[in-house]
Amino acid sequence: MASSGLYIQMFSIHGLVRGESPELGRDADTGGQVKYVLELARALGEHPDVEKVDLVTRLIADKTVSKDYAKIIEPLSDNARIVRIQCGGRKYIRKELLWQHMDEFVDRMLRFIKTEGRVPDVFHGHYADAGYVAAGLASIFGMPFVFTGHSMGRHKKNKLLSEGHSEEEINRRYHIDHRIDVEESVIKEAEQIVTSTRHEINKQYGLYENFSTASYEIIPPGIDIDTFYPYYDTQLDFHIEDESSKQARVALMNELHRFWVGPQKPFILALCRPDQRKNISGLITAYGEDKNLQAIANLAIFAGIRKNITVMGENERNVLTEMLLLMDRYDLYGKLAIPKKHDFSFEVPELYRMCADSGGVFVNPALVEPFGLTLIEAASCGLPIIATNDGGPADIIANCENGLLIDPTDTNEIASACRAILVDAEKWEYFSRNGINGVRKHYAWESHCEDYMRKVLEVQKEMPASDVMSTSGRPKAIGHRMTRIKKLLITDVDDTLLGDDPALRKLLGLLEANREDVGWGIATGRCLSMTLDALEEHDIPSPDIILSSVGTEIYYGPSHRPDREWLQHLAYQWKPDMIKDVLSELTFLELQEEETQRRFKISYYIDMRNDPELLTVVHKALQDKKIKYNLVFSNGQFLDILPFRSSKGKAVRYLSYKWELPLLNILVCGDSGNDEDMLRGNTCGLVVGNYSEELESLRGLRRTFFTESEYAAGVIDGIRHYRFLENIQ
Ligand code: GLC
Ligand code: MG
Repeated sequence: MASSGLYIQMFSIHGLVRGESPELGRDADTGGQVKYVLELARALGEHPDVEKVDLVTRLIADKTVSKDYAKIIEPLSDNARIVRIQCGGRKYIRKELLWQHMDEFVDRMLRFIKTEGRVPDVFHGHYADAGYVAAGLASIFGMPFVFTGHSMGRHKKNKLLSEGHSEEEINRRYHIDHRIDVEESVIKEAEQIVTSTRHEINKQYGLYENFSTASYEIIPPGIDIDTFYPYYDTQLDFHIEDESSKQARVALMNELHRFWVGPQKPFILALCRPDQRKNISGLITAYGEDKNLQAIANLAIFAGIRKNITVMGENERNVLTEMLLLMDRYDLYGKLAIPKKHDFSFEVPELYRMCADSGGVFVNPALVEPFGLTLIEAASCGLPIIATNDGGPADIIANCENGLLIDPTDTNEIASACRAILVDAEKWEYFSRNGINGVRKHYAWESHCEDYMRKVLEVQKEMPASDVMSTSGRPKAIGHRMTRIKKLLITDVDDTLLGDDPALRKLLGLLEANREDVGWGIATGRCLSMTLDALEEHDIPSPDIILSSVGTEIYYGPSHRPDREWLQHLAYQWKPDMIKDVLSELTFLELQEEETQRRFKISYYIDMRNDPELLTVVHKALQDKKIKYNLVFSNGQFLDILPFRSSKGKAVRYLSYKWELPLLNILVCGDSGNDEDMLRGNTCGLVVGNYSEELESLRGLRRTFFTESEYAAGVIDGIRHYRFLENIQ
């Protein structure tokens, strides 16, 4: 941990994220989660143990949305900022279409971290897409990974299935199975999962196979207690009420008084979207059936904005129609207020305070309520609450002891809970006070951050030290190394590294002595396991990077962590079956052994002794079929067909880009055809004295040095030639 405090990187990738008037509710991807991460980022920035917080999201430069989303950096506060990373193009696209771009996101972040010059102490992903990115980065850097799901795919899939959508349709539209797969691995990889409620752990995470491998901590989100201040503060003149809340109060009053004949009575308040599952009808029925309750209190239901019910969606229309019909059926004219519209952000806190002033209660009768934000906001203003026993409210009432839980399907129970509080002034006071205090204790961002930081520091301590630091005190996780090294040596294995053992020992000694600044990789035609065999046989320590199977696979560090983005990059237009098909017609080709055949490498033996034009025949056969490929001929006998985007040289360029290492700082050494394209261009190229004929064409290139020395001695001569270990800074 840095002495001055933690550097936290939070990821929330989809939707439109901006600090200045976020467009909450603009679309399905820009809502509660965006609000949550913005508030959390700001609040964490205030914590004394935190030095800085980056909220990382996707950069969007698209005419259909505000230019704000194209800014790379947007400050949120002194210690917190939004960082935008471009990936998957510039267009604003819905979250379900982002999956294929997440590896690119990881890569771009590596560059960002490298330029920032500081590795974060924690990677925290919000929602599965960002979870994937944060998990990837955390493992590259050996740092803790924290995950907050916000919502989970299995639950959603079950819901959609139960609504009658087909599996196929759900996958087409939401790529839900992919999301679920990602969530399974994210759950497995997370050092810590943060949830808002116990209900979420059981009902959401509980559906996953890796459920029990994870550690969960319930840390509910905070609310803005400056907005949801207690009702009595207005009376005490403690809060200098601004004009807008006074105006909101007058507007609300006027609206409610249109409905009520006895406006001086306390009122029962409900506020929710017009959705069947919110069970508004249950509450109206409870009220309608209980004459005593009607005598002591009015009822007010705010169910969103409505203009013309007949043109609304089916669910909403049904809910609103039923509301009106129940009003008529129980003859609740003069008692039940169902205002047509209200301006959410301004009026809601005032509405809670008015209700508390009247001595009323807040009811959430939903059939199931995952969290219950409105309950917390109402409680914060001093309203006693009555809430469904299914979901998050149970936690709220357990924490605050500020109201009663009810079975939402039992209308008698709803009504008697209302009466119990409304008629008992002492109980009302008790619940009201507990709500105000409890929310401040349990549901303020400040307390969220306290719990969060306690957990994160704990996790940090538990991280296996060996993963983060090697015994010499040097960071071992490959990300640290890759962002720190200044130069990179890449050597081929057969006939370059191997062949002269004393020279090899000398070379390894040089590398070890310069390990701090110089990284080392090998690039070979061998597959990973054959490469490891060779390393072991010659007692060679694990390199930082292995480019195996002619650069089609990249692995990092002693644990051989695969570079997933590279694979993703190669998959483009790769048609191995078609290639094998076409080439099976050519009798002068013989497939190599099974273990050399890889996902992105098809290898043959080719005998060209009698006909040097055979390569042309291979090219023509493939081109006739319009196949895109890269053909590599080595050692006068090997023929590899690779994706057109791959080769050892392309892999080296990819590394240079990914880790921001200039090509000039990379020394590449080889002896045969499959090394050719990495020896060309801006890298420092070295051809050993024992090279094979195919490399003759490189002679004369400015940055390709042909040494007389052979094998590893040639490599050492290359180091000398380029003064590779001098002036490293
Ligand atoms: C290695 C591989 C072989 C490949 C050759 C040239 O020998 O095992 O499959 O064809 O390198 O790249
Ligand atoms: Mg070789």
